[in-house]
Amino acid sequence: MTKQIQIAIDGPAAAGKSTIAKKAAELLGYTYVDTGAMYRAITYKAIQSNIDLQDGEKLTNILNKTSIELKPSPKGQLVFLDNQEVTDEIRSKEVTASVSEVAAHADLRKEMVLRQLEMGKNGSIVMDGRDIGTHVLTNAELKIFMSASVEERARRRFLENQKRGISTNLEELIEEIALRDKMDSEREASPLIKAEDAIFIDTTSLTIEEVSEKIMQLAKERMR
Ligand code: DC
Repeated sequence: MTKQIQIAIDGPAAAGKSTIAKKAAELLGYTYVDTGAMYRAITYKAIQSNIDLQDGEKLTNILNKTSIELKPSPKGQLVFLDNQEVTDEIRSKEVTASVSEVAAHADLRKEMVLRQLEMGKNGSIVMDGRDIGTHVLTNAELKIFMSASVEERARRRFLENQKRGISTNLEELIEEIALRDKMDSEREASPLIKAEDAIFIDTTSLTIEEVSEKIMQLAKERMR
């Protein structure tokens, strides 16, 4: 019998984590949890409610009364905020520009981590984010830290947006991603950092298939 494992995938913005994590979860029949969507959902609610994004205490109080659900569907993972679907809304430019500020509050992160631990407690999970290997699934059998050059990540996001009919500017994307990297890496509360026992994969010159193959191979080794 194969062992049920936990897989933690971390890395900077637009490194391809969710594409790869989703694929691995599908191939293994595991649950996929996109933790970035949870931070985006609370950011969306805070913007809608005109909350000061620097007020960590207020944001945490609101989060405590907020339900965030991630539900798989044939179209991909759907995100529900207080029972309302916000899958597309949380990807807006406004939310993307503000989410790092919200995610920097330590108490808010504590509550998010509790929720993520609950989701991951039975194994058979692929979770992606910034602190999964370091603060959430700290005993995960497989930890991956994925990155690529900022130019390549911006180029991928540019093409992805183009496919979805959203026009963006490549130079602006490079700046936006570099700023988010900086905020996520330099914050005090669980900054974006590679866990000591994580395997680093530079995806700059790798295709999705190549990365996916590599991760599946590593996962299978750990399931024996
Ligand atoms: O993965 P993403 O780009 O959708 O994540 C959005 C933001 O949420 C990211 O800029 C930092 C924050 N985040 C975090 O701090 N910790 C996580 N585990 C996941 C995301």
